[in-house]
Amino acid sequence: MDPIAALKDYQAAATTALAEADGPDALEAVRIEFLGKKKGRLKDLQGLLGKATSEERPVLGKQFNEVRNAVTEAFEKRKREISRPKASLTGLDITLPGTQYTLGRRHPITQTIDEFKDIIGRFGFTVVDGPEIEDGYHNFDALNIPDVHPARDPLDNFYLSAAQAAAGTDGPTLLRSQTSTVQIRVMEKTNPPVRIVSLGRVYRPDTIDRTHSCMFHQMEGLMVGDSVNMAELKTVLKLFATAYLGEGVEIRFRPSFFPFTEPSVEVDMLWDGTWLEVGGAGMVDPNVLSAVGYDPEEVCGFAFGLGIERFCMRRHQVNDIRRFYENDVQFLSQF
Ligand code: DAH
Repeated sequence: MDPIAALKDYQAAATTALAEADGPDALEAVRIEFLGKKKGRLKDLQGLLGKATSEERPVLGKQFNEVRNAVTEAFEKRKREISRPKASLTGLDITLPGTQYTLGRRHPITQTIDEFKDIIGRFGFTVVDGPEIEDGYHNFDALNIPDVHPARDPLDNFYLSAAQAAAGTDGPTLLRSQTSTVQIRVMEKTNPPVRIVSLGRVYRPDTIDRTHSCMFHQMEGLMVGDSVNMAELKTVLKLFATAYLGEGVEIRFRPSFFPFTEPSVEVDMLWDGTWLEVGGAGMVDPNVLSAVGYDPEEVCGFAFGLGIERFCMRRHQVNDIRRFYENDVQFLSQF
């Protein structure tokens, strides 16, 4: 056979065989057939060259080397292709680096709420929920807040005219300004004794500053029975604050006024030498008990409402309430 034609045949056959080899085993078989040193096609070609005349030999030798190098290179290229993982039909390239997911965590206020529930639960208080969209009856009337009271001022509340129209009610509908509403909702459908807390959001168009936000969280507490007294209220609040903030916490009660309690106190907590107001409390006003159908001659109770953010701020030394609502992951990831 003409050695030039044989070289061409060899190269063409090798190219086809390499293209058809679709796995490491098939490729190895092609290597043995076309590039094997001891036997195989290359060996046959060398035999042919051996028969060439001495004039032909340098030219043929050069061509032989070129063809062998080309086939060797094509083999290496095919080997790399086969060992590379294939992209699937969906375009998934599993050689790309994966997406790094950082682990989320619960918001510090959610963590505080859970801890509050845990502590106050140990004092025998059951956790209940109430709606954030309230009617005027539960937010004001039943809480003994008179019609002319400034707490009803449109400038101090988020009244919802659209919700009111949808509900078809005459009275105002608003985002609740206090969790005290839940006291009424619970007493309306439960007979005494009652021992509940309710934790959730409240809304007030306050001027926003370090300690005020127009949405914040409160924990409302209510205990009604036949001999509930102010000393028990103080004990519960003191024990609660100590459980959450540690033995060193100092709280004080300042005489105050709320329409739904008599007597009423404001609760302050010492933080770095300054008293910070953290809530209000008092003995449930007989008018409130009557409004829900309880007999004020038979039962009495105490109630309290605490600002959850302020406790959390004190515990973690956060000096600006706005930090909680900025969704700054660097801040939030510290809790
Ligand atoms: N609702 C009051 C407020 O948001 C706090 C409060 C005061 C709640 C006295 C009470 C209470 O239950 O007895 O300012």
